[in-house]
Amino acid sequence: MSGVIPNAVPFLGGNEWKYLKECLDSNWVSSAGPFIERFERGVATYVGARHAVATVNGTAALHLALLVAGVRPGDEVLVPSFTFIATANAVRYCGAFPVFMDSEPGTWCIDPVKVEEFLATRCETRGDRLVNRGSGRRVAALLPVHLYGHPADLDALAALTRRYPLALVEDTTEALGAEYKGRRVGVHERVACLSFNGNKIITCGGGGMVLTDDPALARRAALLSTQGRTPGAEFVHEEVGYNYRLTNIQAALGLAQLEQLDRFVEDKRQTARYYAEALRVLDGIEPFCEQPWARSSYWMSSVMLDPSAWDDVRTLIQKAKAASIELRPLWYPLHRQPVFAECEAFRVEHADALHARGVSLPCSVGITPEARARVVAFLAGERR
Ligand SMILES: Cc1ncc(COP(=O)(O)O)c(C=O)c1O
Repeated sequence: MSGVIPNAVPFLGGNEWKYLKECLDSNWVSSAGPFIERFERGVATYVGARHAVATVNGTAALHLALLVAGVRPGDEVLVPSFTFIATANAVRYCGAFPVFMDSEPGTWCIDPVKVEEFLATRCETRGDRLVNRGSGRRVAALLPVHLYGHPADLDALAALTRRYPLALVEDTTEALGAEYKGRRVGVHERVACLSFNGNKIITCGGGGMVLTDDPALARRAALLSTQGRTPGAEFVHEEVGYNYRLTNIQAALGLAQLEQLDRFVEDKRQTARYYAEALRVLDGIEPFCEQPWARSSYWMSSVMLDPSAWDDVRTLIQKAKAASIELRPLWYPLHRQPVFAECEAFRVEHADALHARGVSLPCSVGITPEARARVVAFLAGERR
């Protein structure tokens, strides 16, 4: 047994070198250059969005998405507790406050039934404003996250944003390549965002993108990403913006990766299928599978472990490390994070179980059959 099996590392098997060399040869290495537009257009076409604005990372894209959706200081945004911290941090960057919602057992994404209950029992509409009666704050947006490659139940969530004055902003950072009811996950309603960090299904090294069908929102996102600079030759700035632009070098890498995305999704799906099949013979281990209406990109291949049959997840991760296998814990629920101790959480129950019992298995694009078999053999040896 030799060699560490990483959890998820990039696969750089296409035109990456060629495009990077073009950047260096042409001297276009910074925040302008032909690859930026090609990458934006390529991603927009892939997901079926009219507009895409590339950013320096996914967190910046999320920040801009919330701003252009109209989130203002003092507002609240409904966020799943079970997600990466960036989702809620971006809300705070706007001066707004996350209100934490629970996840559904079937999708691991925000639970539309509990969101509806929160809206019906804790909020009221005053004119064109939705107000949380407890805090007195405006509830400005609903921010689902398509977790681990699986889409949230978008129709159910979009129905709520039609019934209440609430913007739908999607955190699509973990689900590029997934499909919801036969349509690629991208932007379902107003605005969404992607991430291209090192362990995402495609990477720019670091990068992100705002997606929208609305040209005015796209223009505003582009303006805010460029220090608020009014387009033109002069340096005229009408509002405070951010330096959130992606570089040509990052976009070159991203474009080369995008060209391989379909193959990457197939690879991820094959790995998830392999684990589901191979682990079926072990009791007390349940792979995270897709809903009948979803085609998951399986960004992560994750499983839930029954504590009566398995060591606690953290112990298992340590034992796997000793066997040179990198298992990864699931997200730490945000309503338990010290930094968000003051924020409201509404009936969050399932998120804790996901965190306590779930773990992600190695699933890099290009993982070998031998490596996958080694992971399964390790797990078989650990079953009590
Ligand atoms: C759910 C979620 N939101 C936001 C982000 C932020 O993306 P980035 O790391 O590119 O800033 C990530 C990934 O890191 C994520 O998993």
